[in-house]
Amino acid sequence: MKILGICSSPRVESNTNYYLNEVLDEAKAKGADTEIIKLAGKKISGCHGCYGCVEAKKCIIEDDFQEIYNKIVEADGLLLASPVYHSCITPELKSVLDRMGFSGRWAKNEMKETNKSYDWKGSVLSGKVVSPITVARRAGQNFAFAEILLWAATNDCIIVGNTYWNVGVAGKGGSVNANEDEEGIGIMRRLADNMVDVISKLNK
Ligand SMILES: Cc1cc2nc3c(=O)[nH]c(=O)nc-3n(C[C@H](O)[C@H](O)[C@H](O)COP(=O)(O)O)c2cc1C
Repeated sequence: MKILGICSSPRVESNTNYYLNEVLDEAKAKGADTEIIKLAGKKISGCHGCYGCVEAKKCIIEDDFQEIYNKIVEADGLLLASPVYHSCITPELKSVLDRMGFSGRWAKNEMKETNKSYDWKGSVLSGKVVSPITVARRAGQNFAFAEILLWAATNDCIIVGNTYWNVGVAGKGGSVNANEDEEGIGIMRRLADNMVDVISKLNK
């Protein structure tokens, strides 16, 4: 079982990474293979809307995205983690989600002819077990969280629940102090248990 965490803070040392580590440490203790990809310092353009992926069956923009695409394709579970920026996910994560969702869909499908309806054959994301994690100093969690949920819901993914939203509260004045957020850390550990359970049940 492979669980991949995408940490979309532009900061190398970040609260978002701290929470992701909490989830993945717990998942590892339950037997999962885990990995974190930090988007900090990576060159990842936004989607150009060129539709080049329809023919090429992959995104044709050459940058650090291709490596991330391949890692996501290999993963059973995907934790999409973002700091809240003005009530939204970071542009780094938005770029990955747009390009992943679009090129992942066209990798498995053909553009329909005029007057014909779609006969979707899934996506490279079909059946992946996904969960959002958002981190804010104070407000805007729900909107950012919903952005990730909506992406997963339209990309044929299976969304994992929890007894609370997977949110961390940290970062006043730019501090990296997620370790003080006892409640948030508990939420992350339970998320790991739920994700491992769901993937195990799906693979029975
Ligand atoms: C550009 C920018 C926008 C932010 N917008 C919000 C916001 O809308 N709501 C909030 O509570 N915190 C906001 N913050 C604070 C961060 O979400 C908070 O510090 C978080 O812990 C940073 O995560 P990181 O350490 O993983 O980078 C913002 C920070 C930055 C730099």
